[in-house]
Amino acid sequence: MKQKKKNNWLLYGATGYTGNLIARLAKERAVSPVLAGRNSQKVKQLAEELGLEWLAFDLTSVDEVANYLKDFESVLHCAGPFVETVEVMAQACLKSSTHYLDITGEIPVFEYLHKLDNKAKKVGITLLPGVGFDIVPTDCAAAMAKAEMKDAIEMDLLFVGFGGVSAGTAKSAIAQAPMGSFIRENGELKKVPQFSISKDFHLEGKSMKLFALPWGDVYTSYLSTNIPNIKVFTYFPENVVKLGRLTQPTSFLLKNKMILKFAQSLIGTFVKGPTEEVREQGRTLVQARVRNARSQEIIVQIDTLEGYRFTSESALLAVQKLAKNPIGPGFFTPSQAFGKNFVLEIQGTTRSNSK
Ligand SMILES: NC(=O)c1ccc[n+]([C@@H]2O[C@H](COP(=O)([O-])OP(=O)(O)OC[C@H]3O[C@@H](n4cnc5c(N)ncnc54)[C@H](OP(=O)(O)O)[C@@H]3O)[C@@H](O)[C@H]2O)c1
Repeated sequence: MKQKKKNNWLLYGATGYTGNLIARLAKERAVSPVLAGRNSQKVKQLAEELGLEWLAFDLTSVDEVANYLKDFESVLHCAGPFVETVEVMAQACLKSSTHYLDITGEIPVFEYLHKLDNKAKKVGITLLPGVGFDIVPTDCAAAMAKAEMKDAIEMDLLFVGFGGVSAGTAKSAIAQAPMGSFIRENGELKKVPQFSISKDFHLEGKSMKLFALPWGDVYTSYLSTNIPNIKVFTYFPENVVKLGRLTQPTSFLLKNKMILKFAQSLIGTFVKGPTEEVREQGRTLVQARVRNARSQEIIVQIDTLEGYRFTSESALLAVQKLAKNPIGPGFFTPSQAFGKNFVLEIQGTTRSNSK
């Protein structure tokens, strides 16, 4: 194992909606990070408000970023869309022997980091992406279900009650739009048109239609459980489904960087993320439903916090747990890193009965 470094951890992307929540929670819990981001004015302002140290650097040169990271044991990377930022940050972590954690939910990002498994093992660092709402509760529910049905061959994951999204989440989602949606079939990722797969779900007497989406678990829960057929579902308002279907034939336009940047800047102007009240009061329900070849079924259900509140709690806990008990080098999903019950360590989270 590598030597412990002088400073403990760096929070990169601290000035974003989610990075900011994590920075404040970390300060409150006295597990203070050094804050970082690409905009020195914004980082300085936040750091001074919270009384924390800060650094400003962008993500263009691996060597320069590695030079900043070399003093840190780990980095919690919160600057997304991660398809645009993961490569420089992860390569810099390999170069500086710094553990890498992030809050991505993007399938290509998990795929990219998974391919760095051997390199991470060689230099002795942990790669632990997805320590936010995407994918901790679903990944842990999937691992619990698999532990209870060892011969499961099929799994549907779902979450409902996500109380609105931040600009960063919306920007990451539209960057993925031209790729369509994904499910896993016979162990392989399979591309499917968006909003083409649905299922009915009943909650507290209400019926709703859920749609399959390219959530990170389509990639990762196969690694956590080895179940070969996986779909992830959530609720979308009817107008979003209609708009998504209508605009899908033109979504290839978002492959053009200028058009994508323009659309993302509009999102940055209009999408503000859930209010404090929504974050405090919102609840989310997560289910993993597994089946075996004899059509026997098991459902694991988790009742937890609103998604962004959950993300700040779980990301912070992941950093703390990794610092306390190093889990060894290589790529890990959250349940592989901390066990299937990791989700239940997040305050306000319980395993509940499905009706
Ligand atoms: N796993 C989960 O459940 C979960 C939960 C929340 C968020 N997320 C993901 O986390 C990411 C951030 O979300 P957010 O809500 O914080 O978004 P946000 O408010 O838009 O913040 C994005 C942050 O990333 C920085 N950034 C963006 N592109 C960058 C680049 N190329 N180089 C350096 N910094 C860059 C921004 O810096 P500037 O301020 O300088 O622009 C800002 O600090 C998104 O990808 C989102 O999908 C995941």
